[in-house]
Amino acid sequence: MKQYSNAYIIGFAAGVCLVCSIVVATSAVVLKERQDRNKVLDRQKKVLIVAGLMEEGQKITADAVQQIFDDNIRIRAVDLQTGDFDSDIDTVTYDQRKATKDPALSRVAPENRAGITRLPLKALIYERVAGDEIELLILPIEGKGLWSTLYGFLALAPDTTTIEGLTFYEHGETPGLGGEIDNPRWKSLWKGRSAYDAEGKPAITVIKGAAGPPEDDPFRVDGLSGSTLTGRGVSNLVQFWLSDDGFAPFLAKFRAERSAA
Ligand SMILES: Cc1cc2nc3c(=O)[nH]c(=O)nc-3n(C[C@H](O)[C@H](O)[C@H](O)COP(=O)(O)O)c2cc1C
Repeated sequence: MKQYSNAYIIGFAAGVCLVCSIVVATSAVVLKERQDRNKVLDRQKKVLIVAGLMEEGQKITADAVQQIFDDNIRIRAVDLQTGDFDSDIDTVTYDQRKATKDPALSRVAPENRAGITRLPLKALIYERVAGDEIELLILPIEGKGLWSTLYGFLALAPDTTTIEGLTFYEHGETPGLGGEIDNPRWKSLWKGRSAYDAEGKPAITVIKGAAGPPEDDPFRVDGLSGSTLTGRGVSNLVQFWLSDDGFAPFLAKFRAERSAA
C-alpha cells in the first residue's frame, strides 16, 4: 500500500478544511439575505394572522403576503415611556430586537416577572387600517417562558382592552407541552377576552385548568395541560406589556385621542 508522508496528510487535511470552510462561509453570506427576508416574511405572516387577514397554515406566496401587508397594515414607532409616536424612526429598517441590546437605544427594565432585562426606548406597533380607520392595534410582546424567550404579538380592538388575538412567532418551548401555545385552538380562546379589569389594571391570566367563555370569564384563559410554567410565563409577559412599563402610556394616549376626535 502506498505510504503518504505526514506533511502530505496534514496538507491534504488542511486543504479539505479550507475548501469546506470556504463553502460554508460562502453559503452563509449568500443565504443571509434570503434568511433575513424569510424572517421578515414569517413575522409579516404572523401579524396578518393575528390581524385576521390570513388563515393559520394558509399557503400564500411571499409577494401576496407583502401585498396584503402593505394594503392593510401600518407600522409606527412609539416611545414606550411617553406613549408618543416617533416619526423620525424608519420603521422599515428599525430592528427592535437589536435596539433592545444597544445601550444607546434601550434602558434597563424595571424589575418584572416576565424575565425582561432591557427595554427598547422605541417600539414598533402595527395598526390594521381601512382608509383612515384604525381597526386593530397589534403590539409586539416578549418574555420568558419555561425554557426560552417567547416573541409574539397581541392584537387589541380600538377600545384597547378587548383582545382580538395572540400569536407567537418564535420560542423554544417543548413541542406538545409549552409548544402548545402555537395550537390554533388554544390561541382562539383569547379572542373576546379583556386585557384590563375595571380599574384599568392588566388582568388577563392563563390559569391552571379550564376557564369559562369570554362573556362569563373575561380575564382568564385555559391553561395548557402539563405546561403550567409556560402558561405562567405567557401571563407574566402579556401583563408586562400591558403595564405602565410596556404599552399602557401609548394605549392611554390612543384612547384619549380617539375620544377627543
Ligand atoms: C422534558 C420536559 C419538557 C418540559 N417542557 C415544558 C414546557 O415546555 N413548558 C412547561 O410549562 N412545562 C414543561 N415541562 C413540565 C414542567 O417541568 C412542569 O412539570 C409543568 O410545567 C407543570 O405543569 P402542570 O402543573 O400543568 O403539570 C417539561 C417537562 C419535561 C420533563
